[in-house]
Order: sequence, then structure tokens, then C-alpha cells
Amino acid sequence: MQSIIFIPFNTMVATVILSWLLVSADAKTLESEVEVLRAITMSVDPVSITEYSFLSTWNFDLDPCESTGSDFLGILCTLPQDNSSSQITTLDLEGDGYEGFLTPAIENLTALTTLNLRRNQFRGPIPTTISRLGNLTSVLLSNNFFSGNMPDVGKLKKLVNLDLSRNLLSGPIPDSISGLRRLTLMSMSNNELVGVVPDLSGLWQLNTLDLSGNQLMGNFPVLPQNLRTLNLARNLLSGRVTSLQIIENLESIDISDNRLSGNIDPDILTLPFLKYLNVSINRFTSVEVNKFADDSSLLEVLDMHENRLQGNLPINLFTYSNLTSLNLGHNVFTGPIPEVYGDRLGNPWQSLFLDYNFLEGNVPSQFTSTHVDIIGSLAHNCLNCPRKLEICRGGQRRASECAKQ
Ligand SMILES: *[C@@H]1O[C@H](CO)[C@@H](O)[C@H](O)[C@H]1NC(C)=O
Ligand SMILES: *[C@@H]1O[C@H](CO)[C@@H](O)[C@H](O)[C@H]1NC(C)=O
Ligand SMILES: *[C@@H]1O[C@H](CO)[C@@H](O)[C@H](O)[C@H]1NC(C)=O
Ligand SMILES: *[C@@H]1O[C@H](CO)[C@@H](O)[C@H](O)[C@H]1NC(C)=O
Ligand SMILES: *[C@@H]1O[C@H](CO)[C@@H](O)[C@H](O)[C@H]1NC(C)=O
Repeated sequence: MQSIIFIPFNTMVATVILSWLLVSADAKTLESEVEVLRAITMSVDPVSITEYSFLSTWNFDLDPCESTGSDFLGILCTLPQDNSSSQITTLDLEGDGYEGFLTPAIENLTALTTLNLRRNQFRGPIPTTISRLGNLTSVLLSNNFFSGNMPDVGKLKKLVNLDLSRNLLSGPIPDSISGLRRLTLMSMSNNELVGVVPDLSGLWQLNTLDLSGNQLMGNFPVLPQNLRTLNLARNLLSGRVTSLQIIENLESIDISDNRLSGNIDPDILTLPFLKYLNVSINRFTSVEVNKFADDSSLLEVLDMHENRLQGNLPINLFTYSNLTSLNLGHNVFTGPIPEVYGDRLGNPWQSLFLDYNFLEGNVPSQFTSTHVDIIGSLAHNCLNCPRKLEICRGGQRRASECAKQ
């Protein structure tokens, strides 16, 4: 009785195993790609491969693409329809803390679309051979110690996401980057890149551009039309800011800490989706603020501190109904604090810095009201600023300094 049940059951299992073997025999990993995986493990310091990290699951007694579940974590493969071998499409070793080099043999993963080594401790150059991997759509190498020049990514025509931020890359950004028409994310922030920013106007899908924290110089770059987030902070860009006001979808602009000059175009402040604008630590000399016509400005943060802005404080800022943080400190503004600024204290302004200017006269009465809870400073001006007020702490300029203005 028992054996009658046992036999068909066993046959069924055998059939399943056999057909599985037939299918998977066809899907063995291309030998040249197994070699690349070996080369990858060999160029990582074994001490940095911890027990539970992905590389510790790579067991070369097994076939990488055939292994499922618990072996060869961090790779994905093609599933070929015909007899051909499997190829690796994704290599994802993010955040495992590996120390070592990235092997030039990576060039033999010809079907690779995603390379993610973010948040490790890879050092040395990014192999130039990477520029042959024309199937790549995402190259994510941020937060490592990669050094040397940026690889020439211009041939990676399918590239959508390029994140090389927080490394030690030096040299220029290759001009060929101008031709990567599918890019939506480009981040090379916090490296040691030099030279000018290539013309990016053709990257019409580019959503996020972050080149902050480098030593990029020259004129303000030519930017693409569909940008939402722009960060060029902490570089050496100079001259006037051109054509930002026509990039309609911008939500966040940080061009702080450069050498930019001229006026801040009033149409930048009225961009319909803009929430954050930081132009601080530059050499801008004037700002004009247009009334925000339909009372639906989304602007929340406006930082213009440490420029050479002169004239009266821009009165129309009171029409920006979502503004919570305003910093106009360290400029050369003169004249009184507009009465309407008083109406905005705590409503919606939460943070107001007007320190280190040459403002004069009495502070609007709301400033002296005890129930206004706001952080900020009016110090180092030429104001009648009652010393008992927290916001006046630090004192005012000497009369001789004020007379000069
Ligand atoms: C699959 O492999 C067999 C034997 O190796 C060969 O005869 C056949 O033509 C191959 N089929 C395809 C679609 O490549
Ligand atoms: C890529 O594979 C080819 C053929 O297997 C081999 O000759 C070559 O050395 C490999 N490339 C690298 C950089 O190892
Ligand atoms: C892209 O991958 C396919 C295999 O999926 C390969 O045949 C082709 O050569 C690759 N293209 C490039 C440019 O490497
Ligand atoms: C504006 O940029 C400067 C310099 O990069 C930075 O220190 C400051 O915190 C930024 N301001 C805001 C409000 O984010
Ligand atoms: C901006 O302000 C308007 C009008 O005061 C308000 O209706 C809207 O909810 C605010 N939007 C945001 C994102 O805070």
C-alpha cells in the first residue's frame, strides 16, 4: 500500500528535477562573466567581506545565474529564451562596506544595465573600460573613495542615472556628457572636479543636477529646460546668472557660495513651483522682488545672505504666503525695516535674519511684542533695537560706521 503511493510520487519528483535540470542547463552563466565575478571578489579586501554581506554568498562551486535565493546575492541575470547563456544585468553591492578596487574586467559584463556600489570603500580609479558597457542605464558609485579622472561616459547612450557624488574624482567633466539625452539624474557633488561645466542644454530629460562642492569655474552653465532640482553650490562659478527664470519646473535652486554677480532676476523668485532658493555667499549687487500676483507662491526658503545687495529691503516679500525662512543678512541694505515685515512675524515667517546691514530707524512694533516667537537677528545695523529683545542681541554698529553709509 505504501509502495504504491511511494513510486508515482518519486517519479513525479524525478521528472520535476529532470526538467528543471534541462531548463537550467541552458541558463548557465556565460563563462567570461563568471570570470568577471571572480575578478570582482579578488579585488575586494577579504577582511572587509563580512559574514552576512552579499559577497560572502558568492560560491563559485555553483553557477551564479542558476543560483537562487541564498547564493550569489547582489546579481540579476538575463533569462535567455533560446539555449544561449545567461548574462548579468545588475550588480548591486550597495552599503556593504567593501574595501578594494573595481576591476577593469567589469568590461566583460556586456549586458550590465545597473552597477550599484554606493556606500562602500572602493578606491583607485573607476576603470575606463566601463565606457564600453553600452547597456548601462544606472551607474551609482557615490560615497566611495574613487579617485582619478571621471571615465568618459559619453558612449553610454542609455544612461538614465549617473551618481558619482562623494568621491575623490578630479579633472574635468567630459564634454561628451552633453550627448546623454536620456539622463534624468546627474550627481557629481563633493568631488574635486575642475574646469567648466559642459553645455547641458540638450539633456531635456534631466530632472536633477547636483554638481555642488567641486572647483568648477567659468560662466554660469547652459542648463536644460526640464530641471527640477539644481545644485551648483560651493564652486567657483562667476559672472551673471543667465536664463534660470525660463526653466519653469524648478523647485529647488542652490547656487550659493560661488562668485556670481549682477542682479538676481525677479522672475526667478516668481517661478511657479519654486520652494527653495539659496543665492548666498556670492557677489550679487541687487535684487528686485515683484509682487507675487496670485498669492500662491510656494517659496518657503529664501537665503540671500553674504552678498553685496544694496538699496531698501524688498517690500514685496510680504506677498510670498508660504515663506517661512528669510535671510538677507551680511549685505549693504539701507533704510528702515518695512512695517509689513512686522505683520509677517510668525505668520508665516519663522526665521528672519537681517543682521550685518545698515538698516536704520525704529523696528516695527510687532518685533517688540512678547508673544512673537521667531528665530533670527537684527544685530549689527543702525537700528533703534531695544536691547531686551532677543532678536536685537549682539548690539548695533557704532555711529561712525552708520554715518558713512
Ligand atoms: C540549442 O542547442 C542544441 C544543441 O546544443 C542545438 O542543436 C540547437 O540548434 C540550439 N537551439 C538554438 C535555438 O540555439
Ligand atoms: C575580457 O574577456 C576577454 C575574453 O575572455 C579577455 O581576453 C579580457 O582580458 C577580459 N578583459 C579584462 C579587462 O579582463
Ligand atoms: C547589450 O547586451 C546585449 C545582450 O543582452 C549584447 O548582445 C549587446 O552587445 C550589449 N550592447 C552593448 C553596447 O554592449
Ligand atoms: C545656503 O547655502 C549656504 C552655503 O552653501 C549654507 O551654509 C546655508 O545653510 C544654506 N541656507 C539654507 C537656508 O539652506
Ligand atoms: C501656500 O500658501 C497657500 C495660500 O496661503 C496655501 O493655500 C497653500 O497650502 C500653501 N502651500 C504649501 C505647500 O504650504
